[in-house]
Amino acid sequence: MWRMSESPTGPWWRDAVVYQVYPRSFQDTNGDGEGDLPGIAARLDHVAQLGADAVWLSPVYPSPMADGGYDVADYEDIDPRFGTLHDADALIAAAHERGLRLLMDVVPCHTSIEHPWFAEHPERYVWSDRDGPQNNWIASFGGAAWSPDPRTGRWYLHSFYPEQPDLDWRREDVRAAVGQALRFWLERGVDGFRLDAIDRLLKDPQRRDDPPAEGPPPPPEHADVGTLRQVMSRNAPDIGDALHALRAAVGDDTLLVGEVYLPAAQLAPYLAHVDCAFAFELLHAPWEAAAMRTAIAAALDPGGAAGQVAWVLSNHDFPRLPDRVGADNVRAAALLALTLPGAVFVYQGDELGMADGPGGEPPRDRAGRDAHRHPMLWDETAPHGGFTAAGAEPWLPAIAVDGGGVAQQLSRPDSMLALYRDLIAARRALGPGLEFLDDVADGVLAYRRGPDHVVVINTSNVPRPAPAAGVVVRATHAKRHPAGTPSPPRLGPGEGFLANL
Ligand code: GLC
Ligand code: CA
Repeated sequence: MWRMSESPTGPWWRDAVVYQVYPRSFQDTNGDGEGDLPGIAARLDHVAQLGADAVWLSPVYPSPMADGGYDVADYEDIDPRFGTLHDADALIAAAHERGLRLLMDVVPCHTSIEHPWFAEHPERYVWSDRDGPQNNWIASFGGAAWSPDPRTGRWYLHSFYPEQPDLDWRREDVRAAVGQALRFWLERGVDGFRLDAIDRLLKDPQRRDDPPAEGPPPPPEHADVGTLRQVMSRNAPDIGDALHALRAAVGDDTLLVGEVYLPAAQLAPYLAHVDCAFAFELLHAPWEAAAMRTAIAAALDPGGAAGQVAWVLSNHDFPRLPDRVGADNVRAAALLALTLPGAVFVYQGDELGMADGPGGEPPRDRAGRDAHRHPMLWDETAPHGGFTAAGAEPWLPAIAVDGGGVAQQLSRPDSMLALYRDLIAARRALGPGLEFLDDVADGVLAYRRGPDHVVVINTSNVPRPAPAAGVVVRATHAKRHPAGTPSPPRLGPGEGFLANL
């Protein structure tokens, strides 16, 4: 069987490009308006041709979809809307045939309230010992983190929506049961896991109140979430024990990517057990050279090794890149993400320059994230962009993309898709490590990759001088700065290049 191996430069994922598929929005094959596993298999050539190394599937388990599948009702099956276990096996095989690894999303912190465990094994969850909330903790999307069980009236903890009761990760039976689920998928051939929200696995054992937040009051949309410093409701000091159990379940050769919402400086206890953790500080940094430099430097020094960063500028939880960094900076954002050292995650549609669409009607996600989850645009001339059949009703409408769909962008050398492909190909030649260039104009972000390459990006909204840097390998705007020409002395706003010294 096809199997990964260690290359002389480290494990396969060290500098991997991982393509995030949001299954509900990728490709529908049965006309029900929702993407499915056979659809993903049918579109794998797109991912392989992009040059990605692996695919991460957002959850496809049976789920009432209170949180887009992050409310899992059975860790060891496939939701009928996505297909069957047989389809999963076929998808894993199809990925491996193309040299792509496959990562499943595992949501260990909570289950769906409809998971049979909640009724049959209530002891596996976290319960208040009062007739009401145990403390002042608040849920990630707002409101109290405690709700009464509709059947018994007992109050349980939920770090996210009320439909997502938290498992008690201090319990051996919980560790064993989730570990068993990971092995279930390993035996089917998956290559690793993205671990959801693992900073929430363990809370203060005494369940003390979170203290009030310092600093200015939060913006209205985060009013309650921003009022507390969440130092008790997550990231407990013994987190390593829970992570050790997850690692022990899968062994050392399985990639574990952690979603950890903590500053890089606090990631060390996580990186002792997972292979890498998302660098969310860069995602949250403003599009501004100094702030981005600080975030990159922090992520590269998390008290671990540089190879432990998983760069991410976009995923299903946040406004898409044009809406966050501005449409004029999207090409430079691609250059940045794809030339940093370490694994990088690319969210489906980013390779087209896709922007947010309207919120769903009716909204499917109470936290307002429908806008970031519109269907992949395969062909702008096809009904529903090629996502689903002509007569079908897509769960969210297909939306236009400035440069067109995959079919349109394939044939244009200056398309966003061509930029992604070229950069993914070029990143293979980049040497190890990253060193910032200090002597650069304000608003310019510049770094060396190994001895041979330099990346320069103008993050300001005016033309800026660029440091001399050899010969252009790929610029964000190839017509103005063609490959093979000397690196330009000035860059316009939103422009950048990768050059060979
Ligand atoms: C992660 C997921 C997000 C989900 C949350 C709760 O942050 O990315 O989509 O809502 O966990 O599981
Ligand atoms: Ca379908």
